[in-house]
Amino acid sequence: MTVPPALEATDVVKTFGGTVALADAQLRVGKGTIHALLGGNGSGKSTLIKCIAGVYRADAGRIVVHGQERAAGDQTPAIARRSSLHFVHQDLGLFPQLSIAENIALDRGYPTVRALGAVRWSRLEADAAALLERFEIAASPRTPVGALRPSERSMVAIARALADARDDAILLLDEPTATLAEHESRELLAALRRRADAGQTIVLVSHRFPEVQGVADDVTVFRDGRVAASDTMGQMPIERLVAAMTGGAELPHPARVAVKAGSTERLRLSGLEAGALRGVDLAVAAGEIVGLAGLGGSGRSSLLRAVFGRIPLRAGSMALDGVHFRSESAAQSMAHDVALVPEDRLGEAAFLDMSVRENTSITVLRRFWRRFRISPSAERRSAEGLVTIFGIRTPGIETTLGSLSGGNQQKAILARWLQRDPKVLLLDEPSQGVDVVARADISAHVVAAAARGTAVIVASSDLDELFALTHRIVVLRAGRIVADLETARTSRDEVAHLSMLDSEEGIST
Ligand SMILES: Nc1ncnc2c1ncn2[C@@H]1O[C@H](COP(=O)(O)OP(=O)(O)OP(=O)(O)O)[C@@H](O)[C@H]1O
Ligand SMILES: [Mg+2]
Repeated sequence: MTVPPALEATDVVKTFGGTVALADAQLRVGKGTIHALLGGNGSGKSTLIKCIAGVYRADAGRIVVHGQERAAGDQTPAIARRSSLHFVHQDLGLFPQLSIAENIALDRGYPTVRALGAVRWSRLEADAAALLERFEIAASPRTPVGALRPSERSMVAIARALADARDDAILLLDEPTATLAEHESRELLAALRRRADAGQTIVLVSHRFPEVQGVADDVTVFRDGRVAASDTMGQMPIERLVAAMTGGAELPHPARVAVKAGSTERLRLSGLEAGALRGVDLAVAAGEIVGLAGLGGSGRSSLLRAVFGRIPLRAGSMALDGVHFRSESAAQSMAHDVALVPEDRLGEAAFLDMSVRENTSITVLRRFWRRFRISPSAERRSAEGLVTIFGIRTPGIETTLGSLSGGNQQKAILARWLQRDPKVLLLDEPSQGVDVVARADISAHVVAAAARGTAVIVASSDLDELFALTHRIVVLRAGRIVADLETARTSRDEVAHLSMLDSEEGIST
């Protein structure tokens, strides 16, 4: 890096009880550059960003912003804001029960009427509306953030962070693209590039290496809370990235799906209308992995949620192994051996204040599935096994899920379902936030479940993932299936094109 740094973090240490999150972290970000901060799940990326934000108090180290140096432990959110640092945290930091306008205002400080201090709601909503329009988010400022799709929530958090960023602002974005569809990420990254070219400084965390390689100037790779490599992006081909991230291991080969799926029909949907779906017919065989492609709002999540019984059917019917089947609750679905890993895992599937053991095990399932009984020691063994098999990075199985890194929370929740060999496995964005090594592991587990006879439907906005994992790709547009393609005989371009064609706005899942 030749440009002078806008942001430097040196020798930052942060421990949580016995866990060393940052052993000795360094980050040096040149002014007007995009700096990728990469590393495996649990390597300390989010912790460093939260120390720079003053959300966590670092144990040691120094932070220099635009030449102003202070002890990292003295950093506070107020100081961060004054030094024009802006953040999108991995958990977004939004309040689901508040409206979009309120969420935006909370970050900026409410606009007030002179000394009265009363909030000027009309101004607040007008500002928010302008911002939503600028970022092309089709929602009213009064919509509660909790009612938005995950990708829309990310866009609100991003819009909030970018809204009034000064020309010399430093933006730290922790996996901003994790929930975004490919064309949405592309637009965001292009916008970031323009901002960097105009002088803003950007730190970008992502597990999607191709997008990072396309946009970042420099890169720092963390492993175990310290720097494993730091260089210009051009000097960092994917092999070197992975080697730095893993400490030398190679990226596991992607799991190969069997060329031919089974032929026994397992699941059939006929004329399904629910949520955004407007009449869907689909059959999935035992052992088959079907991918759902489409834009946000096209009905991918609606399809998965309708089969699982999370949303009611307006019309249509479903059959499981040739027998009429209908679920009105998670409990009924699970009694039929139908499993869903939802897109909004933290909202719908995880119990952050419960332990890894409880979250991966039957204890959570028992909430839905009371007939299943298991002994405490068997539960413990099962949880320990899953932690090993899925490489969940945690001090132990009694650690609360909420204190794991984002990607490790995902792995724990996926493990809970994948261990059960369900008849039907519904996955909504399964690799969101997981690192490349874990992603390959998860794919291997999904492929293995299919090989044992599970029918899998997987929705993903990552076309690479769909192409690596599926036998068939079904393209949804505005609630209808517009194409049903054999994966081996189609292309990314064709799928992307079919997803976009005269897409309609304003349908929410
Ligand atoms: N509040 C906390 N309490 C206890 N441990 C924590 C807390 N926050 C983070 N950790 C631990 O610190 C380590 C680093 O976590 P961090 O979230 O920084 O990882 P990350 O690199 O952002 O991972 P990911 O890619 O999964 O988001 C992990 O071992 C994690 O369990
Ligand atoms: Mg993180």
